[in-house]
Amino acid sequence: MDELVALCKRRGFIFQSNEIYGGLQGLYDYGPLGVELKNNLKQSWWSSMVYDRDDVEGLDASILTHPDVLRFSGHEDTFTDPLVDCKKCKSRWRLDQITDSSCPSCGSADLTDPRPFNLMFKTTVGPVDDGSNFAYLRPETAQQIFINFKNVIDSTSRSLPFGIAQIGKAFRNEITPRNFIFRVREFEQMELEFFVLPGTDDDWHKKWVDSRLKWWTDQGIKANKIKLLNITGDDLAHYSKSTVDIMYEFPHGLEELEGIANRTDFDLGSHSKNQDDLGLTSNTLKNNASNTKLAIQDIENKKLIVPYVIEPSAGVDRGVLAILNEAFNVEKLGDGKERIVLSFKPHLAPIKAAVIPLKKNNEDLVNKATSLKNILQGLRLGRVVVENTGNIGKNYRKHDEIGTPICITIDFDTLEKDIVTIRDRDTMKQEKLELSKVADYFRNFLLS
Ligand code: GAP
Repeated sequence: MDELVALCKRRGFIFQSNEIYGGLQGLYDYGPLGVELKNNLKQSWWSSMVYDRDDVEGLDASILTHPDVLRFSGHEDTFTDPLVDCKKCKSRWRLDQITDSSCPSCGSADLTDPRPFNLMFKTTVGPVDDGSNFAYLRPETAQQIFINFKNVIDSTSRSLPFGIAQIGKAFRNEITPRNFIFRVREFEQMELEFFVLPGTDDDWHKKWVDSRLKWWTDQGIKANKIKLLNITGDDLAHYSKSTVDIMYEFPHGLEELEGIANRTDFDLGSHSKNQDDLGLTSNTLKNNASNTKLAIQDIENKKLIVPYVIEPSAGVDRGVLAILNEAFNVEKLGDGKERIVLSFKPHLAPIKAAVIPLKKNNEDLVNKATSLKNILQGLRLGRVVVENTGNIGKNYRKHDEIGTPICITIDFDTLEKDIVTIRDRDTMKQEKLELSKVADYFRNFLLS
């Protein structure tokens, strides 16, 4: 992990947030390369969820959330971690981190009793801070999908099964943020709420687990680094009938990358008016708080039903960490040296190609490189850069280290004969190619 964290800072992937003022724990900023990697991962998820399917719509809802939403969803009561304080060294721990009834930091047994700590952040809405005008920063993106259920079906005429996908920020006041971007207080989720006919939910749950596993391996995660964990008993979230976690071998251990839950009709039911009319099957809260019935017409049986929900919920930041970890390699070279290489799948690479004039500031070479860069950039397949720094060996090393799949060198052959040299990141092989063929080569390389 230390090597990866150092690389992320050195090359501009991820920085400690608010660093020049001492930093804020559990927050990270994505730098020039990190933002590209993260955007590429989100784009890949969005394409697979929304564009490649015919049964999913997108949503981008607000982060600030009405307190009643999180009251009726059960988060006000249940979204807590039991917290223990060490009276001796004043450190604070989640109960599950305490072994042998002693403080993990100083070993003292003088600990407070566990008490619930709500993980949701609150903020004041409007100019008057009298304690009543507050909203929560959403702890999951899901609730905004549920409360927009009717808006989406009314505006799209969807029938079951169908899903609503959303990518966005979520906030949790984690007691012990740790392991770099693995457990943080501000993070992004990629969540799909897939609404199905009750009774078909178990089948859909299995289908989504398979589909999500395939997606992660398509992003370059090796299948042998992933394990499925069936969550049971008290470990299930308050809304879930069954959950399967996709666990990944992170540098610090095997932990959750994504959870796929069968949320039944818990959430739509909890946010619905007059639940008794709807014949709900799950043990939802009894309330009349919202003014809406979040239900859909069952065309076959001609009655209003509350669908069940299958929810694949992935963390963007945990995805970025897993992908960086998979891609990171230190390779021994024949000459006794070694190189660091990030072997990203091309669709995730922050920079798709670097065009390198052989000699720094040579006007003819730089002009030729810039015009090729503009052609490749115009294909809209991702970021292409001109690397006008002169030392070709150093440039190759740099682009290996940031995961650029191909480097294209513009030399005097290019000026005289329109021939470039293409170098492959993974094999380090170099081949000559006619300049007029580079755009097709680049397109095929990225789209194959
Ligand atoms: N809507 C369901 C839900 O939020 P969750 O298991 O609490 O379920 C889903 O969170 C995913 O969000 C996790 O699998 C993880 O990838 C990510 N996640 C949760 N808490 C996180 C945190 N503190 N830091 C980074 N990612 C987190």
